[in-house]
Amino acid sequence: MAPSLYLFLFLLIFNSGNRVASKSKVRSFPEGFLFGASTSAYQVEGGAFDDGKGLSIWDVTSHEKTSPIQDGSTGDVSANSYHFYKQDVEIMKDLGLDFYKFSISWPRILPDGFANNVNKAGIDYYNNLIDEMLNNSIKPFVTMYHWDLPQQLQKIGGWTNPYIADWFKDYASVLFENFGDRVKHWITINGPSEICYGGYGSDLLAPMLNMTGIADYACAKNVLLAHANAYHLYDEMFREHQNGTIGIALNFTWFEPTSDNPDDHQAARDARQFLFGQYAHPIFTKEGDFPEEFKRKIAGKSAEQSFKRSRLPELSATEVTAIRGSADFLGINSYTTKMVYRDASIEGMYPVPSYMDDMGVVIVKDSMWPQSQTDWLQEVPWGFYKMLREVNRLYDNPLVYITENGWSTAGGLLDEDRIRYLRNYLSALLDAIDAGCNVQGYSVWSMIDAFEWRDGYNAKFGLYEVDFSNEDRSRTPRKSAFIYKEIIKSKSLDPHYEPEVYLEEVPENEEKKDDYVYNK
Ligand SMILES: *[C@@H]1O[C@H](CO)[C@@H](O)[C@H](O)[C@H]1NC(C)=O
Ligand SMILES: *[C@@H]1O[C@H](CO)[C@@H](O)[C@H](O)[C@H]1NC(C)=O
Ligand SMILES: *[C@@H]1O[C@H](CO)[C@@H](O)[C@H](O)[C@H]1NC(C)=O
Ligand SMILES: *[C@@H]1O[C@H](CO)[C@@H](O)[C@H](O)[C@H]1NC(C)=O
Repeated sequence: MAPSLYLFLFLLIFNSGNRVASKSKVRSFPEGFLFGASTSAYQVEGGAFDDGKGLSIWDVTSHEKTSPIQDGSTGDVSANSYHFYKQDVEIMKDLGLDFYKFSISWPRILPDGFANNVNKAGIDYYNNLIDEMLNNSIKPFVTMYHWDLPQQLQKIGGWTNPYIADWFKDYASVLFENFGDRVKHWITINGPSEICYGGYGSDLLAPMLNMTGIADYACAKNVLLAHANAYHLYDEMFREHQNGTIGIALNFTWFEPTSDNPDDHQAARDARQFLFGQYAHPIFTKEGDFPEEFKRKIAGKSAEQSFKRSRLPELSATEVTAIRGSADFLGINSYTTKMVYRDASIEGMYPVPSYMDDMGVVIVKDSMWPQSQTDWLQEVPWGFYKMLREVNRLYDNPLVYITENGWSTAGGLLDEDRIRYLRNYLSALLDAIDAGCNVQGYSVWSMIDAFEWRDGYNAKFGLYEVDFSNEDRSRTPRKSAFIYKEIIKSKSLDPHYEPEVYLEEVPENEEKKDDYVYNK
C-alpha cells in the first residue's frame, strides 16, 4: 500500500472519531489562547482626505473614471472609524476580545511615503486608538502595511522598486518610535501574495499593474527584504526596551488535488509553493531562499522563452541570510480551499509568460462546498486542518496566529452560515492543536463590515453590521457576534449554545447541515 493510502486511512479513522466528538462535546481552548478580530485601515477608516493624510493607491484606484469596484464605491468614508474609533473599542470590549488586529495607513503617517514629513494628526489618531484600547485591556495587534501604499511611492514603481525595502524600514522606524512603547504585537506586511500577484501581476487589486510573471516576482523579493529590514531594525534598536514580537501574515489557501494521480498531487504541491511557499520558505525554513522547485520552474520557463535571466530575481547569499528566521511568529490568513489538477488541457490556458503559466495548474471549485457571498470563498474546514498540519511539517512547527478567517454574506443580522463556518473552522483548529500544531491565537475577519476591495460593500464579513447608508454608520451585532462573545468568555466551543436574544428567532425546523468531514 502506498504511504499516501496509509495516511488517507489514518485520517479517515482518526477524524471519524473526532467528528463524533466535535458534534456533541463542548471543546475547550488551551490556557492562554488569544481571541481577536481584524480590520484594515483603508477598509474601515474613511477620513481618506482628512487632516493631512496623503493619497494611497486605493484612493486613486477607487476614484478612476471607470470604476473597477463592483458597486462603484470607495473607502472615502467607509465605516468612518477615523472618527468613530471609540465605538469600535466599545465593540471590542463588548465582544471581550483579547486583541484587535488593525493596520496603520502609511500615507496617514507619511503623506509622501518618506519619513522626512511625519503627519502629526496621523500619529495622534493611532495614539488615541491604541490608548483607548489599552484602557479597555485590548491588546493592539498592529499591521504596518495592509495594501494602501502612498501614491507617491507608486509613481516610482511601488513594490517593484528595490529602494522600497529602505523606505519601508524608515516608515517602520517611525512606527516603533511612536507606538512601540505600547504595541507588543507587530505584523510587518499583510498578504504579500495579494500585494504582488493581486496588485502587480494581475488587475485584481490596486495598483492593478497586470504585468504577470515579471512585476509580481520583483515585488515578492522587495516585500521579503522590506519585511526583513523592519524585523532587524526592531531587533537591533527597539526590542530590548519595547519587548514585543514581530511577524508577517501570509495567505494560506489550501490546494487539494482532485485525484490520487501523482500529477495532481504534484500540481497541488506546486500551487502551495507558488501561493505561500514563495514567502514562507525564505523566512521559516532552515535553508531559507525561495523553494528550489519554484526557482527551477520559473528559471526553466524563462530560458525557454528566451529571457536572458530568470524572471524571478535571485536572492543573494546575504539577502537569504537576512530574510531567514526574520519572524517571531507566523500570521496565517486562511479562508478556504481550492481543487487543483494538471493535464493536457492546460496547454494555452494561460498567457505566456505569466505567474499562472509558471505554476502550471488548473484551479477549480467544488460546487458541493457551501458558497459564501464572495466568489473565492467556500467553507472547507478540513482544508484548514490540512493546511495547519502542512505548516507544522514544512516550517518546523512555528508559533502561529490565525490573523484572518471569516465568512461573507449579502447582509442581515441572522447569520447562521457564518456561525456554522466559525464553529467548524475553530473545531478544525482545535483538532490541529491536538495534533501538535502551535496555534496560540485566532482572529475573525472582520470585526465590522468593511470596504471589501473590488467587491466594494457587496460582501459583508462583519460580526457587526454597519449601516453605510446612515451618516452615523451605526454598528449592530449580528447573531455571530453573540456566539463569538460566548466562545471568548467560556474559552470553549459549545455547538449547541444559543444566545438568549436570538432564541426565538431561530427557525425551529431548519435542516441542520452536517458537521464537516475531513475527506471528500
Ligand atoms: C486612559 O486612562 C488613563 C488613566 O485612567 C487616563 O489618564 C487617559 O486619559 C485614558 N486615555 C484615554 C484615551 O481615554
Ligand atoms: C490584464 O491582462 C490580461 C492578460 O494577461 C488581460 O486579459 C486583461 O484584460 C488585462 N486587464 C486589464 C485591466 O487590462
Ligand atoms: C518581555 O515579555 C515577556 C513576555 O512576552 C515577559 O516574560 C518578560 O518578562 C518581558 N521582559 C521585560 C524586560 O519586560
Ligand atoms: C488568497 O489566495 C487565494 C488563491 O490565490 C485567492 O483566491 C484569495 O482571494 C486570497 N485571499 C485573500 C483574503 O486575499
